[in-house]
Amino acid sequence: MKIFTNSLVLKEYLQTVSLKIGFVPTMGALHEGHLSLIKKAKEENDFVVVSIFVNPTQFLKGEDLDAYPKKDAADKKICELAGVDVLFLPNAESIYGSDEVSLQAPHVRGYVLEGRSRPGHFSGVLTVVMKLLNIVNPHKAYFGKKDAQQLHLITLMVKNLFMSVAIVPVDTVRESDGLAMSSRNVYLSTKEHEEALKISKSLKIATQLVMQKNFTSNEIKKAMRETLTPLEVSYVEILNRDFELLEVVELGNTIILVEVLVGSTRLLDNLWL
Ligand code: PAJ
Repeated sequence: MKIFTNSLVLKEYLQTVSLKIGFVPTMGALHEGHLSLIKKAKEENDFVVVSIFVNPTQFLKGEDLDAYPKKDAADKKICELAGVDVLFLPNAESIYGSDEVSLQAPHVRGYVLEGRSRPGHFSGVLTVVMKLLNIVNPHKAYFGKKDAQQLHLITLMVKNLFMSVAIVPVDTVRESDGLAMSSRNVYLSTKEHEEALKISKSLKIATQLVMQKNFTSNEIKKAMRETLTPLEVSYVEILNRDFELLEVVELGNTIILVEVLVGSTRLLDNLWL
C-alpha cells in the first residue's frame, strides 16, 4: 500500500494508473461500516484509494473537530489488510488555501434535517468531496446510506455539476445490538449506548407499522417519537428517495430518518424501505 500526503503528488501518480479506480473518502477511526465500503470498492474496481481527512470546513464552531477520534496506526493496518492500494492522508494545507472558491449546499435540501441542526455543514462536505474526487478522479466513489442526506446531496452535486463519477450507495453496518456503527459511538458511555438502542428500535417499530399498511406517515412518526422518549429528538422524518415529504409510505421509494442527541452526541440512523 502506497501512502500519499500531498494532493498534487497523488493526482499526478493516479494519472499514471490506467486501471478502474474505486474511491472511499473517510474521516478515519475506521470501523466495519467503512470496511464494507472498502470491500465493495475492491469487488467492483481494479484499484482502490481510501482517504482519511478530518475536514475542518464541515464542522461548525463548538463541534468536535479537535476531539474527533484519531486512530492513525490502526487505520493504516485496517487499510493494508483490506488490500487498499493507496491511502491518502492529506493535511489541511494540502487541501485548503485561503480565500478560496467553495461550494454552497442547496438552500433547501442542504438546510433541512441534519442541515438544520448543523447549518453550513453540507457546504463543507460538498466542497471537500468535490476536491477529493478531483484529486483522485475515480470511476466510482462509495458512500454509506447511514448518512442518507450526505449521500443524497453528493449524488445531486454529481448530477447538477455534470460530473462523470458514479456514486455507489452502501448499506448501513450495525453493531450486533442494532446500533448503527459510527466513529462517534466511542463518545457514548455504557448507559448512553444502552439508551441509543432506542433509535434502531424505533426504526423496527416503523417497519412493523409500514408492513401493516394502514398507518399514515404522521402516525408512524408519532409511534417512533414515543419509542425514542426520553431522548432529545432533532427530527423523525419520512421522505421519498428524492428527499421530498411523503404522506403515505411508498415501498421501494421511502427513507425513514432519525436524528437524536444522546448526552451530547448526535446520532443519525435511517431505514430504506
Ligand atoms: P465518515 O463519517 O468517516 O464516513 C465515511 C463514509 O463511511 C461515509 O460515506 C459514511 O456514510 C460511511 N459510513 C459511516 N458509518 C457507516 C456504517 N455504519 N455503515 C455503512 N457506511 C458507513 O462521512 C464522512 O466521513 C465525511 O463527511 C466525508 C464524506 C468523508 C467528507 O469529509
